[in-house]
Amino acid sequence: MFKIHGVDQRSSELVFTHPALDDGGHITLRQDGSNSEDFVPGTSTVIWPCAYSLGDFLCDATVANRESGDAQRDDPSYAANLGAVTPSSVVVEIGAGLGLAGLVAARLGAKKVSITDATTQAARRNLDTAGLGNCTVDELWWQRATWRRERGKAKAAKAKEGHSNAPATCDESNDESEPESDDEEPAGTPDANETVKQLLKSLPDGENPHMVIASDVCYSQGRREMQMLADTIGALCGDDTIIYVMFEDRGDCCWGTLQHFWQATSAAGLEGDPTPVEDILIAGKAREGEGRSNDSERLLLKLRRVRETPRE
Ligand SMILES: C[S@@+](CC[C@H](N)C(=O)[O-])C[C@H]1O[C@@H](n2cnc3c(N)ncnc32)[C@H](O)[C@@H]1O
Repeated sequence: MFKIHGVDQRSSELVFTHPALDDGGHITLRQDGSNSEDFVPGTSTVIWPCAYSLGDFLCDATVANRESGDAQRDDPSYAANLGAVTPSSVVVEIGAGLGLAGLVAARLGAKKVSITDATTQAARRNLDTAGLGNCTVDELWWQRATWRRERGKAKAAKAKEGHSNAPATCDESNDESEPESDDEEPAGTPDANETVKQLLKSLPDGENPHMVIASDVCYSQGRREMQMLADTIGALCGDDTIIYVMFEDRGDCCWGTLQHFWQATSAAGLEGDPTPVEDILIAGKAREGEGRSNDSERLLLKLRRVRETPRE
């Protein structure tokens, strides 16, 4: 069977299994694989291996929390800090593609899960099959925060004034390293806060989610795209929200993308740490079992919002 980093992106059906899931312990997904007419490279039509590793982490953490006997284990904020889902948990998945991680959170019994992506057809189909009443699929495009756009405009204007006759340097000619500008944003494009407003309203009591989760959302994009992602995540977060992003070393430009993301999260007021998947501790212990193929190439980024005010 042809596999990319340990997952099959060709077959039309995928199965995620974990004993933590009720009802037979598996989730079935449909994908428009790389040999299907509807396949669109790099988009939501196929699974990316990070999704399995994130699903495993949520399952392992949830089981450990349930079995811990800890007095706080049903508190969704406490549990979110461990990566665990409780019956009161509200979870938003970003850039969900087929929606696997979000479906796992829903199957673990979250109160509400919103699975989001720019394109939602694939996740909707999988949610229909899963038939989960505690989950919705919602369209959500990443956008930059307003303050950042304003700063980008000012920077671009200044650069134009000062360097109008200067030849472009290597850096300046690289789109991904360009100072931010609003050139590509048509008037009326919503900012990150406007973009998430509807979604936040649809969550129980209109409150911020306990967890924001994402798998393989930093791959080969530029700085601007990563700022849009970080600003959108930041706009979704309250003081207690915990963010988990599963990252994969694909061996190409992904480390540069990760650096862009890391800088963008800091600018968006988020802070945290990366942990290699193989070093993740669940309830203080190394995880048992073999894990997923190529887990050694994955990092779990855990973040939270540490300040309102953006850093210049
Ligand atoms: C590599 S896929 C990962 C999909 C899924 N999370 C997984 O691990 O299988 C990246 C996903 O991010 C979504 N995405 C990329 N740019 C986006 C944007 N600007 N706004 C919203 N979603 C975006 C894509 O549609 C795609 O589903």
